[in-house]
Amino acid sequence: MGMERIGVLTSGGDSPGMNAAVRAVVRTAEHYKMKAVGIKRGYNGTLLQSKDRNDDYEELSRRKVGEIIHRGGTLLMTARCKEFLEPANHIKAVDNMRSVMKLDGLVVIGGDGTFRGLNDLHNLHFPVVGIPGTIDNDLPFTDMTLGFDTALNTVCDSVNRIRETMYSHERGSVVEVMGRDCGDIALFSGLACGAEIVLLPDKPWDVDEVAQRMKNSADLGKKNPLIVIAEGAWASMKPVDMKAFCVKHGIKPIKAEGEMSSEKLALLVEKKSGIETRATVLGYIQRGGSPSAADRILACRMGERAVELLRGGPEGFGHVVGIHKNKLIDRPVASAISRKPREGRTKMNEHLLEMIKVLAI
Ligand code: F6P
Repeated sequence: MGMERIGVLTSGGDSPGMNAAVRAVVRTAEHYKMKAVGIKRGYNGTLLQSKDRNDDYEELSRRKVGEIIHRGGTLLMTARCKEFLEPANHIKAVDNMRSVMKLDGLVVIGGDGTFRGLNDLHNLHFPVVGIPGTIDNDLPFTDMTLGFDTALNTVCDSVNRIRETMYSHERGSVVEVMGRDCGDIALFSGLACGAEIVLLPDKPWDVDEVAQRMKNSADLGKKNPLIVIAEGAWASMKPVDMKAFCVKHGIKPIKAEGEMSSEKLALLVEKKSGIETRATVLGYIQRGGSPSAADRILACRMGERAVELLRGGPEGFGHVVGIHKNKLIDRPVASAISRKPREGRTKMNEHLLEMIKVLAI
């Protein structure tokens, strides 16, 4: 049987460009005389979980995906579906997609967790392909994930604003960015923002050394040094006795409680370096927003390729689309979810970190 009706869903953390990818999937499908169905709230939709039965999926058409190429978030909505960790629910999803939604194939757009779900459906021989949509850029098989470029630009824009006030007060700043256990947002935004220090999940670091580098910057006449820290970098920090630190500096003991945070790091660095320092956690600001031109283009290219993979027959089923050296690629999902770094990538990251140090002087 041919591929006549396909589903598309977005799952996991939303990322700018997801809507543009849905548009590309729907319009490419129609171009090939296929029908497209939007499944809502990620894998929840495949389990037909919504209270209002008509709200799990809907037929999409060219016009229904108009005016969405420039919109952040995902109009199909998204979720992290815990039930999808249960093998019985994979069977249920396939049954629903085959017999209720009448689908012949599916395109999923999301990150690591979404691709694990893709793998489960593929193992049940349901034709499915994937597009990497996450701001984290944590899927090593592809140079870029959809939304990463926009998130980087948002971080840069936010840091520009932070710099202006920090410059005016001659303060240092700690800016915490997202990325889960991947340091790409921190590394690349750190480079793009001219940060003095970038702290990453996979690079052990120590507060004393950070404070020393802040001091060195001040000695060179820099009054508002910038530290960019990845949210996952607390794991690679040499532990600090916060209680003893607070006692030593006469700081309220309440400041010592709980896990490490950017606010605490700013406090530590300020006391150790003598530079007044403030913390900003950028949070969800960096996940929203209109996709950059680069992300829109990537979304169009990946959406088209995803539909072509489904049309092309079993050889492409279970594949995910990526980009390497500006060429579209596709790989079996199992190899895409292995956390092995891309060839040469670790070396490049080391070089970028070194470059950040050199350029910050
Ligand atoms: O995976 C995208 C991401 O934004 C991560 O950078 C972040 O750690 C996580 O999602 C936050 O997830 P939630 O939306 O569940 O708070």
